[in-house]
Amino acid sequence: MQIQVGIITISDRASKGLYDDLGGPALKKAAEGYGWKVVADALVPDEKRDIQRAIREHIARGCALVLTTGGTGVALRDVTPEAVREIAVRELPGFGEVMRMESMKITKNAILSRNLAAVVDHTLILCLPGKPSGAVECLSFVVGAIPHCVEVLQEVPTSC
Ligand code: MTE
Repeated sequence: MQIQVGIITISDRASKGLYDDLGGPALKKAAEGYGWKVVADALVPDEKRDIQRAIREHIARGCALVLTTGGTGVALRDVTPEAVREIAVRELPGFGEVMRMESMKITKNAILSRNLAAVVDHTLILCLPGKPSGAVECLSFVVGAIPHCVEVLQEVPTSC
């Protein structure tokens, strides 16, 4: 099964055109390198409603996995975890734990990151840092668990 992926860049400045979105393209390249198919992408400001709408649109377009980049830091405008938690059916804490643990070997600032994974409908949402290299690195730390996770979430329950 080829995983259908959506990518959402969450950034006030990039969405206003003040600088180029580098995180989205970096994640696209990484996702394709893992053999996944990127079927949707979006660039939204750090607003909960916009983030939630983009996630729902990606799910409607058939994404089994949505990767977000940005909005996981400590700035008061960083609201990605709050936006995702509001619409999630459950959180998968292991993803954030591993991302922070491995990232601490690269930068002490990783302790500030609020990376997380959660399930919205049947889709796995992975919230990665805004720094393009950090997003790609964090994805690489957890990639081994993604195919199984996506497969279980996409399974159609059999009736008894
Ligand atoms: N994780 C990895 N693997 N590599 C990085 O360079 N940057 C960190 C951290 N996680 C980084 C990382 C930095 S500098 C910050 S401030 C936090 O993620 C939060 O990032 P965000 O606010 O861009 O989401």
